[in-house]
Amino acid sequence: MISEVQSPAQTLPGRYYTDPELFKAEVERFYCRTWVCAGRAGQIPNAGDYFLREVAGESILITRTNTGAIKAYFNVCRHRGTRICATAEGAFPGRIQCPYHGWTYSLEGKLIGAPHMDHICREDYPLNPVQADTWDGHIFINLNSDGQSLREQLADLPDRFTNWHMGDLRLYKRMVYEVKANWKLLILNYNECLHCPVLHPTLNKLTSYTGAENVAPHPAYIGGQMGFKDGARTMSMDGKLRRDYLPSLTEEEREKVCYYAIYPNLLLSLHPDYMMTYTLWPEAVNRTQVICEWHFHPDQLAQPGFYAEDAVDFWDLTNKEDWSISELSQLGISSRAYKPGPYSSRESLLHAFDETVLEREKQSK
Ligand code: FES
Ligand SMILES: [Fe+2]
Repeated sequence: MISEVQSPAQTLPGRYYTDPELFKAEVERFYCRTWVCAGRAGQIPNAGDYFLREVAGESILITRTNTGAIKAYFNVCRHRGTRICATAEGAFPGRIQCPYHGWTYSLEGKLIGAPHMDHICREDYPLNPVQADTWDGHIFINLNSDGQSLREQLADLPDRFTNWHMGDLRLYKRMVYEVKANWKLLILNYNECLHCPVLHPTLNKLTSYTGAENVAPHPAYIGGQMGFKDGARTMSMDGKLRRDYLPSLTEEEREKVCYYAIYPNLLLSLHPDYMMTYTLWPEAVNRTQVICEWHFHPDQLAQPGFYAEDAVDFWDLTNKEDWSISELSQLGISSRAYKPGPYSSRESLLHAFDETVLEREKQSK
């Protein structure tokens, strides 16, 4: 008799989490050829403000020009290649100067000063540009585009989240975590709540782990939404709402949290009263830096006695639970005993992400 039981979808082979060569190729595919979330426009409000991002071993300089445009450049001098800027963030005094021999560039990247270089044509030596664009306050950069615009890559996502008006929200807190796990394990962990009852006792009091409503997986993202339980109204230490709802949310949007992993590196958590962003920065096959930020509406931030530690502490606790289990996953997957294991129906988004990883690998061959 033929069994009607389909063989279940399985986790990826161990090499996807342990092989340094595969890691390099994957980072090239995901981080160097598509739009990557670099940060927030609010980080550089004024002309000359800048911050650096390291992407696949490249230092990228992201700044704002005098016309208010956001531009990105490789942090490499066109004279003898020196890294121009070594400080992670700050403000240029209207121009960018290499500390070696003083080649000077405008904020638009043009070479405007080069001592003892009368024999060269300055137009031939602008800073190497990196594409930059924004989506509702999120800055994205693209090192080596295949021609797809940011809007094309994001597909229908911008329409899903218009009511959160993410561009209006302002940073309240940033925490940076170093996690000893492959970047993909963090995406997998973010996209299932099957682990919530066991791993997150505090979180599990606020949300029902079986209540996730996922949207159909897309080649550019996976995600869905979850409601609250037992009278909780936001995700915080006690579930109490201490801030106004974000101004334009509908009744329905006030009663849920949206969790989306936008490939390759933005984890976006939209709460009724605040937004969280995580950006993932792979450092090695088994190491990832996570920049986690809490953003609130400026009217709330301006309230006397504004308080948001309930949300910060809650997610810091939950994050640490997630990072430590991801580190244990990394260790176990690195064992010679590891073999792919079966996914449940509640892990379908994870399987979809794995398929995307395999699909992009196939396309690059
Ligand atoms: S290397 Fe930058 S000015 Fe010489
Ligand atoms: Fe978790």
